[in-house]
Amino acid sequence: MSTHSAVDVIRTKRDGGRLSDDQIRWFMAAYTDGVVADEQASALAMAIFWRGMAPDELAVWTQAMIDSGERLDLSAITRPTVDKHSTGGVGDKVSLPLIPLAAACGVAVPQLSGRGLGHTGGTLDKMESIPGWRAQLTNDEFIAVLAAEGGVICAAGPGLAPADRRLYALRDTTGTVESIPLIASSIMSKKIAEGTDALVLDVKFGSGAFLPDPERGRELARTMVGLGTAHGVRTTALLTAMEQPLGRAAGNAVEVEESVEVLAGGGPEDLVEITLALAREMVALAGLDVDPADALADGRAMDRWRAIVAAQGGDPDAPLPVAAEHDILVAESDGVVQRLDAMAVGVAAWRLGAGRARKEDDVSATAGVICHAKVGDTVRAGAPVLELRADVIAFQFGMLILE
Ligand code: URA
Repeated sequence: MSTHSAVDVIRTKRDGGRLSDDQIRWFMAAYTDGVVADEQASALAMAIFWRGMAPDELAVWTQAMIDSGERLDLSAITRPTVDKHSTGGVGDKVSLPLIPLAAACGVAVPQLSGRGLGHTGGTLDKMESIPGWRAQLTNDEFIAVLAAEGGVICAAGPGLAPADRRLYALRDTTGTVESIPLIASSIMSKKIAEGTDALVLDVKFGSGAFLPDPERGRELARTMVGLGTAHGVRTTALLTAMEQPLGRAAGNAVEVEESVEVLAGGGPEDLVEITLALAREMVALAGLDVDPADALADGRAMDRWRAIVAAQGGDPDAPLPVAAEHDILVAESDGVVQRLDAMAVGVAAWRLGAGRARKEDDVSATAGVICHAKVGDTVRAGAPVLELRADVIAFQFGMLILE
């Protein structure tokens, strides 16, 4: 007979109390086993949303999420392992050039990734626009690719933090995503269970981010760094703006194309800058004294990209799929772009088919938005500012302000 009841745990948090370690461990195990019902877990999530969690309480909550599943063993990897996680944004394709770049510098990057939901894209959806590329690997395949190529990008298996898997799906439908303790424990439980030695976080703020307010972004970054450090994972965070899309492309194949441009030594300046900044953090955490800019300039990062793609069945030379329909929005007058709302571009790319509304939906490889002009750019009347790509197109929107 259990000494706990779900209703007592919910009442404790609802009334602003601290959950005991025992209550947390019991609740998480009972929820994973189906003893605690979804409506009870959603009531607790809402109570945490309003009442928050003390740091030591959150550490126990996160540990209980990790303990709900398996931990990967990366001891066979001889290089230092460093992963990267972004809290998500529009046009955020940084993982694609960053993983081969860090690998080219001597780091091993064990990236377990997710799919896009709503207006933010997912790394796996982008990579799957490469003909032949496979997101599902067994644990043995994951380790083999990581050991051989220095980087791997793979879907997290059902055994990794299963309590988070259920809870995250529930939060998505109950208005409880935007809670700092719940986001921090969700992200960090998966990253700690993945077994990486070190982790660099890219915490976004601005209109296209989960938490638009920079101060809340900072608090999320501090909370996640605290959790990682407490669990023996060397963790640092960069706080980066997501007011306008990163780079020029938002979608799947269009973002792969832009990532390859970066690896070839070109690409948009903001994307190159953030990729290099994160790569520098990763090599520093690995204790390596190398400059990632050299590996980008001399083609080693591109060589790693080709090898990592091929190791997962992808053909790096195959042409990427192209949309059947292109619609170009032109400037009505001369001017300078004042604002390009990341959220609006993300929603447009999503509605054009690049994203999904429910997790079982398919995504279009070719749909997306290309921003031909970004904030600060001067445009002339008649010049292209936005390009919409889709399989079928019928769209009207306003997301660009000219002055
Ligand atoms: N990503 C996650 O994995 N969990 C969250 O709660 C938010 C973003």
